[in-house]
Amino acid sequence: MTASLPLSGRRTVVTGAGRGIGAAIARGLAAQGAAVMIADLNPDTAAGVADEIRKAGGKAASTAVDVRERASVAAMLDRTIAEFGGLDVVFNNAGIAQVRPFLAITEDDWRTVMDVNGLGVLIGMQEAITRLRAQGTGGAIINTASIAGKQGYEPLAHYSASKFAVVALTQAAARAFGAENIRVNAICPGVVATDMWKLIDQGFRDSGLTGRENEAFDQFAAGAVLGRPSRAEDLVGVACFLASDAAAFMTGQTLLVDGGMVMD
Ligand SMILES: NC(=O)c1ccc[n+]([C@@H]2O[C@H](COP(=O)([O-])OP(=O)(O)OC[C@H]3O[C@@H](n4cnc5c(N)ncnc54)[C@H](O)[C@@H]3O)[C@@H](O)[C@H]2O)c1
Repeated sequence: MTASLPLSGRRTVVTGAGRGIGAAIARGLAAQGAAVMIADLNPDTAAGVADEIRKAGGKAASTAVDVRERASVAAMLDRTIAEFGGLDVVFNNAGIAQVRPFLAITEDDWRTVMDVNGLGVLIGMQEAITRLRAQGTGGAIINTASIAGKQGYEPLAHYSASKFAVVALTQAAARAFGAENIRVNAICPGVVATDMWKLIDQGFRDSGLTGRENEAFDQFAAGAVLGRPSRAEDLVGVACFLASDAAAFMTGQTLLVDGGMVMD
């Protein structure tokens, strides 16, 4: 890696980076010179992505993490600091989705989704900010929200609520820690062809809301004015931008990268 790359020397962590959007962001960060800790509930997929990045000439390591568990998140960040010599950028990207018609959402469903998407992001931010403060260097936190953090979607009401929570946490932390040059922003993907959407599409069929495979995906993706569904790679440019000095005067922002589905 040459010193001229935009993210050379940045010490970064991406949660949920074993596949999908997180893996794409991790590959993009590494290609721009960052050292990347690939963190995921599934240690095998995380190790696979890290291997692939190293084989391509990038710098990466991997670790298991459960973003719902504070001790696990703390260990992930401490391991990153030990491995790379410090911490500059944290992507709280891990998330889960669940399809439930509004009246069918149970207390357990609510807690399951909120635990990962809401509490997981809160813990990730708290543990990252504590370490960035101790380091005294400032830093950047980028949370993965969603178009569902801007509009409530049926039958994804509790998922939408969890993503509105991500936007609120992003704004509140940006206000709280701006004076210490800790920038906090969020990205809102639209309809991205990942394993998560395969599960959502299956959820629509299981709920009797759609009949054929990809029907829900196609219906939702048709809202993108750029005329196609999103790929995980579509998120990489904005993710790298928010991690870089090009975004040095941006904080508290929630950027839609959705092909124009939602205009804010
Ligand atoms: N795919 C989309 O269309 C879309 C749209 C908007 C927002 N998002 C958001 O983008 C993020 C990534 O989505 P994706 O499509 O890549 O999903 P995905 O399901 O393909 O990948 C998510 C990854 O997160 C990991 N994960 C799940 N729970 C975890 C936990 N408790 N701790 C650590 N890791 C955990 C999974 O093992 C998996 O590797 C999520 O926050 C999701 O809500 C996705």
